[in-house]
Amino acid sequence: MHHITLDSETDFDGWRKAARALALNDVKPSDVTWRVAGDAPDLFEPTAPPLAPPHGTFNVPAKFVELAEVSILHRNPERFALLYRLLWRLRGNHDLLDIATDPDVAEIATMAKVVRRDEHKMHALVRFREVGREQKSHFVAWFEPEHHVVELAAPFFARRFADMPWSILTPDVCAHWDGHAVSITPGVAKSEAPTADRLEETWRRYYASIFNPARLKVQAMSKEMPRKYWRNLPETSLIKPLSEGAERTASAMIANAAVEPQWLEPLKESDTANGTANEMARKRPDDIETLREEAADCRACPLYKHATQTVFGEGQQTARIILVGEQPGDKEDLAGKPFVGPAGQMLDRALQEAGIDRRKVYVTNAVKHFKFVPRGKIRLHQKPTTPEIKACRQWYERELAAIRPDLVVAMGATAAQSVFGKITPINKNRGHPIDLSDGTRALVTVHPSYLLRLPDADAKAREYRRFVDDLKIAAGLLRRSVHAA
Ligand code: URA
Repeated sequence: MHHITLDSETDFDGWRKAARALALNDVKPSDVTWRVAGDAPDLFEPTAPPLAPPHGTFNVPAKFVELAEVSILHRNPERFALLYRLLWRLRGNHDLLDIATDPDVAEIATMAKVVRRDEHKMHALVRFREVGREQKSHFVAWFEPEHHVVELAAPFFARRFADMPWSILTPDVCAHWDGHAVSITPGVAKSEAPTADRLEETWRRYYASIFNPARLKVQAMSKEMPRKYWRNLPETSLIKPLSEGAERTASAMIANAAVEPQWLEPLKESDTANGTANEMARKRPDDIETLREEAADCRACPLYKHATQTVFGEGQQTARIILVGEQPGDKEDLAGKPFVGPAGQMLDRALQEAGIDRRKVYVTNAVKHFKFVPRGKIRLHQKPTTPEIKACRQWYERELAAIRPDLVVAMGATAAQSVFGKITPINKNRGHPIDLSDGTRALVTVHPSYLLRLPDADAKAREYRRFVDDLKIAAGLLRRSVHAA
């Protein structure tokens, strides 16, 4: 038996070197044990003589190296052996990774996916606390990742918080940024992390301000942000009181809504002309929650590199109307939800005035990562380019196929470009329904941010009324389509 000891849990180079030597010496996977320095050694297994220095080479697909680099960060202690078994088998079948049903291939792909998800969670859930003040301030966060993702996630924080020195402390390893380079040191106990301070208060106030009772879904929240992370997030102390008040506030919002009927009900059997809602649901190709999970790993364009997370669409899969915006803004990027910042508040108000219940529509963006340029501590929104819109369109198409709404409302030029698949001027096309090739109807209007940017108060009021009027047209169209069905 060959006993291999790697330097650390994330020692990919050590694994690669050992695996190469083992394979070139024709050592079968069943004749190797893998451990990490510091683990208890297996005293009772006989040890094989040392391996001869490897001669020769062999190639493995680049895809395997990519998978191995990520999946080795999984906490499963069997990962080193599984990777070696795959390597061994790849030598006999170079196309093995294409066999998705192969149990080893499936397992390694799942591990890599889980690790990527953990990396995204870390991007989204790390909260820095300020230690020291002004010139001497340093930002420190405590985090407990599920897998060994600290080194993988650290470059994101270096890019994102390039001008502030920070440390992320975890029980496994700690990552530090001094403005020039990331360094890694051994893990520490939670007691070494700083406790609450003024930054937390700011974050709590911000969270309370973006909290929308109409969108409170405790189950989904627990899924997206498992409760084990809650204890390290300053905003979680607000979840209980805010959610307790949510029902009351939501009822008040509905009671204060315009007198237009609340017609945006989920699909009922009687709503469908040629088949039951259940039949339609069966034909739906994707489930929104599955799509959301897949999109969390999207790397179709470079925008994922600087954004905190993918901000996927939000709303019921049975919604009959999809509202499409441009891309998440600063607040949406942090919260992981579309239209929660100032443009979202403007949209909420306009929807309410148009008699549309936001809880019954699906709200999404043409581009699902925040694009910005840093200006000191501020992140300035940047318009997405055509290649970015095109790269992201697959998600909009799949949302559309999953929801199959009666109407899509494109808000602004980027949304219109995505919805129609080509540049579509707003003013020329606004105010009347346009049939899309798949039979869905689309309506074009302005983006709520455009209203926010108008400097003149009269123009702002006038344009806001036009925006509400457009949404009322959407409401009317939907009402008519329900009656016609
Ligand atoms: N602007 C958008 O287009 N989408 C958002 O989610 C927020 C602002």
